[in-house]
Amino acid sequence: MKVLVATEKPFAKVAVDGIREIVEKAGYQLVLLEKYTDVQQFYDAVADVDALIVRSDKVTPEVIDSAKNLKIVVRAGAGFDNLNLPACTANNIVAMNTPGQNSNAVAELAIGMMIYMSRNTFKPGTGTELLGKRLGIQAYGHVGRLVANKAKALGMEVWAFDPFVPKEKMEAEGVKVPATLEELYANCDFISLHIPANEQTKNSINHDLVGKMPKGGCLINTARKEVIDEAGLIKLLEERDDLKYCTDIAPVDLEGFQKFEKRFFATPKKQGAETAEANINAAKAAANQIVNFFTTGDKTFQVNK
Ligand code: 3PG
Repeated sequence: MKVLVATEKPFAKVAVDGIREIVEKAGYQLVLLEKYTDVQQFYDAVADVDALIVRSDKVTPEVIDSAKNLKIVVRAGAGFDNLNLPACTANNIVAMNTPGQNSNAVAELAIGMMIYMSRNTFKPGTGTELLGKRLGIQAYGHVGRLVANKAKALGMEVWAFDPFVPKEKMEAEGVKVPATLEELYANCDFISLHIPANEQTKNSINHDLVGKMPKGGCLINTARKEVIDEAGLIKLLEERDDLKYCTDIAPVDLEGFQKFEKRFFATPKKQGAETAEANINAAKAAANQIVNFFTTGDKTFQVNK
């Protein structure tokens, strides 16, 4: 059995060692394709493997087509919008993610971004504090919930909106639940996005929605760039010089946002899951899920059901 780790943005070495230990203990062979620069390298590497581990690497129909022996692909992370699920399903390939494994790293970054934007992106000048401010969390999943807990510890008033989580559960955890998403934006000084990128969410964070935020509002995006209506948000930032946007995923129109200087910041390369701990957790989970799948048929975390 051959397992390929194909990561344009590689895991920390310690995480790769973790994968190796699990895979080799099961008697399988590990193959690494790291920092590849041409998709053809991916097509060639996947040609004879039985299992594949990726991060944000795009598993396209062409990749699937090149992988004649592939039985399982695991996205070591939460968002699986990089996996072409119809192509996986059509080829009897089980697709999985590793939910929760890198969430703490992303949650810590979201909190760090709030502080960074509140303190004038660490440039001279008087900033503001998080204490007593309202934070609106859009989607109360693994990351959203961790952000909520950390924000509460900082003395923030936490609100959350998630149509898929029972209101009672969120309220029991000390979170205020508005009736609508618009109400979340209208009431919160910060909004932290934790929604996946899919047909329902793409371009949904738009001019009118963000425009509901109160004076000095700040949007934090550690989710996906695709959920932002970039033209609408640029227009809004032009109209209102009090609003801020901080993102871990550089916008397509980076130049269009860069003119806002202290009111905009994008990390040079996605940092959310870039901690040793998150790398280790997600990488080892992915390797264990592959071994469990082959040894016991376990399909927990399958996303193409
Ligand atoms: C995720 O969906 O798990 C995060 O966005 C991390 O993505 P990465 O593995 O590309 O850093």
